Amino acid sequence: MLTKDIIMAELSDLEQEYRSFMVEHFADWRLWAEASQRMSDGEQVQEAEIPPALVTEYRFMEVVLEMEAAGTFDWANPKLRAVFAEVAQSSFYKTWGELIARISLRLARIAGVQTLIEIGAGRGNLTGIMLDQRGDTSGQPNLIITDANPVVLENMQKLTETYSQVSLETFLWDIRNMPSQELRALVHQPCLLYERASIVYATIPAIENLARVADLVVFGDYFNNTGRLYAYDEIAKRIGVQPLFYDDIRPVLEQHFKDHFLFDIRAQKEIDLPNTTLLIAWK
Ligand SMILES: C[S@@+](CC[C@H](N)C(=O)[O-])C[C@H]1O[C@@H](n2cnc3c(N)ncnc32)[C@H](O)[C@@H]1O
Repeated sequence: MLTKDIIMAELSDLEQEYRSFMVEHFADWRLWAEASQRMSDGEQVQEAEIPPALVTEYRFMEVVLEMEAAGTFDWANPKLRAVFAEVAQSSFYKTWGELIARISLRLARIAGVQTLIEIGAGRGNLTGIMLDQRGDTSGQPNLIITDANPVVLENMQKLTETYSQVSLETFLWDIRNMPSQELRALVHQPCLLYERASIVYATIPAIENLARVADLVVFGDYFNNTGRLYAYDEIAKRIGVQPLFYDDIRPVLEQHFKDHFLFDIRAQKEIDLPNTTLLIAWK
């Protein structure tokens, strides 16, 4: 039976590595919070003022404010897409993705997991990292990659061409809905579900649907653990990205899982970052 002590004994080196990275990388996050307020107030803010770790956030906000001023928000705007592509290549995103994959694989091993599910896989950045980390697939749990958007099917096709040895199944799943019988038929228990930055779009009620198939979850997502919001959060809200408060998530997890914890709580508290980025729950 899993406990937090057993899990942390398995993951303590990863926690220490990630904590050091986060504390150094996001040390100056408040400079960005203040700058985003000034941008929101209509002031000109130069990119040089922004801590390097948060420059892509600045570019994102710049494009969103520009579109707002023009009167239309468009997810397909080429400048916005370029910023998203940049985010996906950032050192934080790479470190975060590797952490999610490494934790998932280690937990899968100690829990005897038979199926891994990724949700919200989108362009396959996290899937690619998982495939790199996973290596030789013989004797490994089966891997099911899902997203609400059918483009995931094409993206996974491209990925499997790159990783010729890979075996994975692809499935459409809007996690605001219960998993279909068809999907459930592919899942062998115990099942570990992992993700990055998709619950923030699907929002908290989706967690109940995830718990219907998963015995363990690794959520790489932004959960606000201080209750404080900043100008950049308010701008994100205006384009439909709602902040998710850990205080609202906790009761849902308590209802559906035996236990859970915020893996990066020490880093979050050390620099008073508003968001945590990794949560583990199990039944
Ligand atoms: C920011 S992208 C993250 C992509 C990928 N997880 C990664 O880290 O590279 C968000 C993804 O969440 C997916 N998503 C948003 N709402 C969803 C929902 N209700 N059900 C399933 N996926 C969803 C989007 O289609 C998109 O692919």
